[in-house]
Amino acid sequence: MSKAPVSPPAGHSLELSVPDMRALLDAVRERVVEHVASLPSQPAADVVGGDDLARELFEPEPPEGGTPAAEILDLLFDRAIPKSFNTAGPGYLAYIPGGGVFSSAVADLISGVTNRYVGVWQAAPALVQLETNVVRWLCGLAGLPEGSGGYLSTGGSLATFTAVVAARREKLPADFLKGTLYVSDQTHHAVTKAASLAGFPAENVRAIPSDERFRVRVDVLADRIAADREAGLAPFFVCGNAGTTNTGAVDDLGALADLCIRERLWFHVDAAYGGFFLITERGRIALAGIERADSVVLDPHKGLFLPYGTGALLVRDAEVLRRAHAAGADYLPHMQEDPGFVDFCEISPELSRANRGLRVWLPLKLHGLGVFRRNLDEKLDLALHATRELKSMPGIEIVAEPQLSVVAFRLVKPGLDDEALNRLNRDLIERVNARQRVHISGTVVGGSFVLRICVLSFRTHLERLEEGLEDIRAALAEV
Ligand SMILES: Cc1ncc(COP(=O)(O)O)c(C=O)c1O
Repeated sequence: MSKAPVSPPAGHSLELSVPDMRALLDAVRERVVEHVASLPSQPAADVVGGDDLARELFEPEPPEGGTPAAEILDLLFDRAIPKSFNTAGPGYLAYIPGGGVFSSAVADLISGVTNRYVGVWQAAPALVQLETNVVRWLCGLAGLPEGSGGYLSTGGSLATFTAVVAARREKLPADFLKGTLYVSDQTHHAVTKAASLAGFPAENVRAIPSDERFRVRVDVLADRIAADREAGLAPFFVCGNAGTTNTGAVDDLGALADLCIRERLWFHVDAAYGGFFLITERGRIALAGIERADSVVLDPHKGLFLPYGTGALLVRDAEVLRRAHAAGADYLPHMQEDPGFVDFCEISPELSRANRGLRVWLPLKLHGLGVFRRNLDEKLDLALHATRELKSMPGIEIVAEPQLSVVAFRLVKPGLDDEALNRLNRDLIERVNARQRVHISGTVVGGSFVLRICVLSFRTHLERLEEGLEDIRAALAEV
């Protein structure tokens, strides 16, 4: 009788020997540390030739044999990674930066290597507790009361989707197509997308106009809700913005909360960009009213500077998430009845999931909240500084003063029509970005193309911002 081999033949094992593990980690450590150390000298963005490289890397079949680690690391660090927006670098002022704190990446390594199962409490109670602590801390930050709860998602979009599904379930009958949702004309498209994924046709989402500071017109919203009720529709969901992507505008959250209570509507706050400013005193003042929300989306991969891959949904009443998601199965272990013990599979869309809590918990434990507060305060100051400097540049008009850490501006020249002005500003942005010290992005507000600086990375300090302002001055002299 032939005996089964006790281990696969040499060279065929997926289990690395101890020396091989060390060698792989050493090689990665060198490349990673070198990469982080060189971030300030890397271009703020460089995708020239990126398409050709992508075509060259097209590989229709997986390789049958292995490839030496050194070759793989060379491909990643010398070729693929450099051809990108340097979203981790100090010059990244485009869209919504984050940065990617190193300690969070280390937490990911620990999570991956230990590979514990955190979808159900019983499989790793202490690790689930660490993530539960994080959710608790975030609820506290948003000012949500006892009984609130939530979960960590992969990002703001997915968290928003879950919020809409939970609200739909709480507020509407199973036949929900009369339900209408209200956003502002500045709300991130993640909310409209979430509504669509949750089964609502695009026309059920009402984009309410915003005022001269890009904050939703609460009076217009109230009228629209009344008109929709009159028409036999079922208004149920209002999204307030705690920092819009376009200009960083914060809606009057208190007035929205009053309206939602009066009209018995679900009050959601999109704080994906702005939420972590709540750690600062100025942010708490700007976001007053958020504590009255039924649900809040925060994005730790933005305002907590984590690597991409973590959003958070917080709800005023933790039970709404359970009602929306709980679905048992015979092959699962017993779920917890103690309200202090959470089975994440019962309150969120996933069953198997990454040990996501660690990538938030470890940096907060290691560094403490204070350093995040100081960083966020610095970003608020830098946005004000940029605004003051921009105001001194001839022809520059400030379109939106910072309410948080975004300033929107554009170049205006007498005698040019809207189209010509838009072309001029697109040209300006290209010239600034071509210098590769900072990377900024544009958007359209009120029909005009505008430039925006969003300061959010923990790696962006005054020196880099000054370089960016210098590049704007130089580009202005050219156009
Ligand atoms: C205000 C706002 N809401 C929602 C989102 C979507 O979040 P995510 O990109 O994490 O899915 C973003 C992303 O930039 C955002 O800025």
